[in-house]
Amino acid sequence: MQILFESGITRIKATPTPLPGERGVRFGRGEGLIRTIKSVMRNNSVKVFAPASIGNVSCGFDVLGLAVQAPGDEVLLSLNNSKEVTIKEIIGDEGRLPLEANKNTAGVAVIEYLKSIGVNQGVEITLYKNLPLGSGMGSSAASGVAAVVAINHLMGALLKREELLPFAIEAERIACGSAHADNAAPSLLGGLILVRQNHPLDIVTIPTPKELVCVLVHPQIEVKTKDARSVLKATITLKDGITQWANTAALVAGMMKEDYELIGRSLVDVVAEPLRADLIPGFRKVKEVAIQNGALGCGISGSGPSIFCLCRGVENAKRAGDTIQQEFNAMNLNSEIYISEVNRKGAYVVK
Ligand code: HSE
Repeated sequence: MQILFESGITRIKATPTPLPGERGVRFGRGEGLIRTIKSVMRNNSVKVFAPASIGNVSCGFDVLGLAVQAPGDEVLLSLNNSKEVTIKEIIGDEGRLPLEANKNTAGVAVIEYLKSIGVNQGVEITLYKNLPLGSGMGSSAASGVAAVVAINHLMGALLKREELLPFAIEAERIACGSAHADNAAPSLLGGLILVRQNHPLDIVTIPTPKELVCVLVHPQIEVKTKDARSVLKATITLKDGITQWANTAALVAGMMKEDYELIGRSLVDVVAEPLRADLIPGFRKVKEVAIQNGALGCGISGSGPSIFCLCRGVENAKRAGDTIQQEFNAMNLNSEIYISEVNRKGAYVVK
């Protein structure tokens, strides 16, 4: 793992690819390691919060993600002598998520982490599922991130924060059938993250302007990521490719130069949004009125149905959020608004 600092960018490069379960043991195994872990473990229980995130950020399909302050999921992890990873309870999912640890993002993240460090440890998980399922707010990623941060904390912070990402990505693969990192990376590390490459993992934290405020509006319908990915085409035209990478590069430049106008005009997605727009009632109108009412730009958060806006200042954010909600109200669609600054610290230990 190398961490390079380049003119304001924190660049993290992991070598070799630490995919869970691959290449055997990276961090040592056996009695010596277990003794080390025991000597640093002070508690046998911890609660961790991991925030929601805006996947794609319009033009950065599968490669850009932005963490918000709230809402987020919480995971309570307790160690025991059973040698098994189990899920005790999931609160807030109305019984919809699997309780089998190997089918749940929180469970998978813990299992893969323990496998990687070569420790056969009993763990009991309680998941507080505050993020709605199928919302486009990085719900599955947040559970996996909270769980892997919690187990690493209980193992005496054996791995660095960025080294936890492969376990959260593996959990995402189980949940969505696709190992994209654009939700897990910002939820884990905070900020705006560019996933330059998955194998070997190479991610870049992009600085964001101080006055940037995020709006998330969640209409109360559900869109499964699998379904939203199934409407996409396997290929794009060269013309669309040029537009998309020009906007992605310009969005990153706009963030670094604190150029709000450039950020606004770069929040354009010609690849996924045109194909997904019909999955969200009134999306095109909602986007239009948001931009007329305080949003620098507006798009689908992740795979939807949540809509996000980036705004300069809280007043603009409130105006854009209210406008979107009024549009949904006019369609008899209830919605929730979340307004927050960029979350620059990612998941954290609650107690
Ligand atoms: N990048 C992913 C997608 C995010 O758009 O399918 C899913 O939340």
